[in-house]
Amino acid sequence: MTPRLSRRQLLAGIAALPAVFVSARAAVAKAATPLPIPKLIDAAATGGKVSFAAQKAQHTFGDGMASDTYGYSASFLGPVIKVKSGTTLGIDFRNELDVPTAVHWHGVMLPSEFDGGPHNPVAPGANWQPQLPITQAASTAWFHPHPHGDTARQVYLGLAGMIIIEDDNSPTLGLPDTYGVNDLPLILQDRAFDDMGMMVYDASPMSMMHGARGAQVIVNGAIAPQAKVPRGLVRLRLLNGANARNFWLRFADARPFHVIASDNGFLEKPVQVSDLVIAPGERYEVLVNFADGKTATLQTYPDYNGNFKTGTISALSQRLASMKHEASAIMSFAVDARLPRGLQEIPVSLITLPVVDETKATQTRRLLLDPMTMANMPMMQAAGQGNMAGMDHSKMDMSHMKMGGMKMPGMGMQVKMGINGKSFDMARIDAEPALGSAEIWEIEGEAMAHPFHIHGATFRVLELDGVAPPEHQRGWKDTVLVNQKTRLLVKFDQPATVEKPFMYHCHILEHEDAGMMAQYRTV
Ligand code: C2O
Ligand code: CU
Ligand code: CU
Repeated sequence: MTPRLSRRQLLAGIAALPAVFVSARAAVAKAATPLPIPKLIDAAATGGKVSFAAQKAQHTFGDGMASDTYGYSASFLGPVIKVKSGTTLGIDFRNELDVPTAVHWHGVMLPSEFDGGPHNPVAPGANWQPQLPITQAASTAWFHPHPHGDTARQVYLGLAGMIIIEDDNSPTLGLPDTYGVNDLPLILQDRAFDDMGMMVYDASPMSMMHGARGAQVIVNGAIAPQAKVPRGLVRLRLLNGANARNFWLRFADARPFHVIASDNGFLEKPVQVSDLVIAPGERYEVLVNFADGKTATLQTYPDYNGNFKTGTISALSQRLASMKHEASAIMSFAVDARLPRGLQEIPVSLITLPVVDETKATQTRRLLLDPMTMANMPMMQAAGQGNMAGMDHSKMDMSHMKMGGMKMPGMGMQVKMGINGKSFDMARIDAEPALGSAEIWEIEGEAMAHPFHIHGATFRVLELDGVAPPEHQRGWKDTVLVNQKTRLLVKFDQPATVEKPFMYHCHILEHEDAGMMAQYRTV
């Protein structure tokens, strides 16, 4: 790793994360809450109709008191929708909240009029009934709120659900596919709780800068749950639904597992790993072998994000080495020999992916994901830090950036972020790729790693942080964790209008709400 630029070293101060979230409250051994399995809506059994509502609710995460939450026809999270490619999903969504929302189908490739971004608001009491043409290959997608400026809070309170897309080929691959038995959705999130066990959302400026985080990992809305699994291969559909936190997963006994799919479909063949980083918005499908009959504990290391850019290289490697001992349990798997064993063999190959040919790209765009659009930071003046507008970033002393400690009521969303120095503007089109074309998007993240997501398009990673991507990131993706220079070959196959353009943004939801988002239409 090369030394960071001086601007980055200065900015790194804002990325140093509060120590609280290394110590998780849970002890998997004592609290064996059964893993909640979200209700499955199989569109094949409902004539393609799916109805659900965003509603206020109360939810108990562990042994604490019930918390005020939102849910999609549930007390937290929502249904898992299963749909076959080549069919139409008839959505009937109702907003029973007292604020506007929007429902975005993250990873579902649809014309922009159905995409459910900030240009598709659903008013309180209103319904939204899009007919979604499902045309893509088998994959795991999800849905979550995307209203202008209020996405982070609504997701944090509980709005998110999973979508399982099957195609003609997927059932023939011999993969575990019995929902809730050997095919399990795992929606990974983190939340902060107060002393009473009630969920709290930290909207302080510091939390907005880093993205909201909590000391407690939850899986499918439960603290330290335990899944019952058959004695054999189990498919886990991992979704990072956290607002900001990366999960760096491993098993306590270091058992290897196989990644079979990334965001938008299968890999060519299963890729064996012993740990896996999953960033907000990303999905991976993995196969885990429980044939030994032993209870297995899934752990995560502390989120390194932010620390990579702080301090010297030797301090960094010491920090990483120490993290190896800081993995904490997030859930466990207990083998139940009565469950059907299903398939025992890891498939040798899965699908054939098109060869990545960057000579097909019609142009290259460069994006800088910049958490600091300095001209838009009035709180710095309010706090007596002088006039920041036009100030040279490199001369800034970041030791003054202790905004969490400032008493600035209502200043939370004054943090303005941007892409290429521009904060999100609903009325501005930032890019106009040609429909059907491929482009190279060259992206860099400032100050910390940012999970970059594009709506209505999928990409292959050409280069990740300056080097070739690892095997498991060589399939189709729509979200990628960008730190240093990252190059993507993006395919624009869905039409987007001026009225309802597609978004591209950082999937740290506080960054998105603060303006680290832009939009494109196709031409
Ligand atoms: Cu999952 Cu624009 O978001
Ligand atoms: Cu999306
Ligand atoms: Cu970001």
